[in-house]
Amino acid sequence: MNSTQQQLKNKLSQALIAAFGAEYSYTDPILVNASNPKFGDYQANVALSLSKKLGKQPRIIASEIVDKLDVSEICETPEIAGPGFINLKIKTSYLENQLNTIQQDARLGIPKTPTPKKQIVDFSSPNIAKEMHVGHLRSTIIGDSIARILEFRGHDVLRLNHVGDWGTQFGMLITYLKEVYPQALTTANALDIGDLVTFYRQAKQRFDEDKNFQEIARQEVVKLQAGAPDTIHAWKLLCEQSRKEFQIIYDILDIKLIERGESFYNPYLSKVVEDLEKTGLLEENQGAKCVFLDGFKNREGEPLPLIVQKSDGGYNYATTDLAALRYRILQDNGNRIIYVTDEGQSNHFSQFFQVAKKAQWIPENMELVHVPFGLVLGEDGKKFKTRSGDTVRLRDLLDEAISRARQDIEKRLQDDGRIESEEFITNVAEIVGISAVKYADLSQNRTSSYIFSYDKMLALKGNTAPYMLYAYVRTQGISREGNIDFTNLGTDAKILLTEDTELTLAKHLLQLDEVLTEVEQDLLPNRLCDYLYQLSDKFNKFYENCPVLKSEEPARTSRLMLCDLTARTLKLGLNLLGIRVLERM
Ligand code: ARG
Repeated sequence: MNSTQQQLKNKLSQALIAAFGAEYSYTDPILVNASNPKFGDYQANVALSLSKKLGKQPRIIASEIVDKLDVSEICETPEIAGPGFINLKIKTSYLENQLNTIQQDARLGIPKTPTPKKQIVDFSSPNIAKEMHVGHLRSTIIGDSIARILEFRGHDVLRLNHVGDWGTQFGMLITYLKEVYPQALTTANALDIGDLVTFYRQAKQRFDEDKNFQEIARQEVVKLQAGAPDTIHAWKLLCEQSRKEFQIIYDILDIKLIERGESFYNPYLSKVVEDLEKTGLLEENQGAKCVFLDGFKNREGEPLPLIVQKSDGGYNYATTDLAALRYRILQDNGNRIIYVTDEGQSNHFSQFFQVAKKAQWIPENMELVHVPFGLVLGEDGKKFKTRSGDTVRLRDLLDEAISRARQDIEKRLQDDGRIESEEFITNVAEIVGISAVKYADLSQNRTSSYIFSYDKMLALKGNTAPYMLYAYVRTQGISREGNIDFTNLGTDAKILLTEDTELTLAKHLLQLDEVLTEVEQDLLPNRLCDYLYQLSDKFNKFYENCPVLKSEEPARTSRLMLCDLTARTLKLGLNLLGIRVLERM
């Protein structure tokens, strides 16, 4: 089924062709949501844009379009307003039919894409032996939501974790490991370094202090690159240790990812440079091999090159990304590659995208997208830190959210004199705490920085996860209270819309497809959050205005169906954000 908006666009296109000829088949009807619900639900502004071209007044053009416009199944008679807007008001009977149809569909009428693509989402991507920080948390949450939405639409999604598991720092880490944990290298499972971040810091300190250590570390880098067994073994131990720590976070957040770290692309790096050489794009600059780029200058205003091989012969982050890109094009057959990182890396992405394009590695139908996001700030508006000024460990952050959610629920139970099992409380605290963190992140336009506030994200009112979860719980409460089985409301149960709040809710329920289509294109999950927030709000207004269990038939069944549809829409939408719902809280 096509969304209402899409159907109206098609009808408007047909009218444009009928009125002005086939060359108008590509003219955008400029269909937008009505600026004021008094005038209808949608308005088409195309008449204003055609005035010059057709040499006529927009109002005249509008009436010529309306003469050819057949939307009688969907809308009341179109009206022309102001300088030449075409106002469209959706018919109640149409809304009822649509709702009665999607109600029977497990996908709520959201079609799968007719053109499935291989979409690769590169997200999370922390670095071995380093802190997985709030930036990686954002990447993880946003990337997961994007992947979920694309998967739901029926795309073939590859979720890749481009872990930073290679580089010269491993020389230092391996040398230090051999020094302080020699037994770990000879005995199976003997390594338990504990906190890898502390380990990293200590190794760095050793490295900075001791010339001899530096020399050994350099040799370890060479051995690592040459694949010396003992060095590789130490490297694997370090990766394994980090991986375990990352996995704890992924389990808490319910994230699925395939690890394909930087080291995976080692065998392809020299070929990248060789092939760039063949294209004639490579230039030598102070011993380094690089590609000069359009639009990038250094501070002195001189052209800035992208280095793909350093003067010592080593490769870097950009070389690896070029190799990974080629692999994703040639081996994975990706049609769209999406990279989710902080906006600090925007230059890196536009630079190596440009190199790949210049080298003509990017097939025609393929899209490269960097999905940048802003910073997470503390309540003081500065970089997010613990009270003592350290970086916040993600586990601590998530634990804190869960424990605060727990305090909230315990307080609520006490206030209401309710008794619940320990299991219930733990489950609610976990879901609410994690949802709050995810939702707070996703509900922001990702390009802006946001202030991390436990109080705000856990609030029961406002654009928060608890508010949304609570709306869902409300719908389930109705079914419990009335002993209603939403899945079995009778074969002739029908939605009938009479009250304003019902109509408003109904229209909103039918807009999910449009919203998902937008998110699929611009990769801004906050649009889905806005949609769900409004849905909860419209549902609450409906619920305040329209008695459900106490009303007479046929309104009672119809309203129960509206509750059920709202619940299923909330559940689906939240699920696409990586948030699980609760039956009670
Ligand atoms: N490991 C990098 C970091 O922590 C992110 C990698 C992003 N993905 C990529 N293909 N460059 O900043």
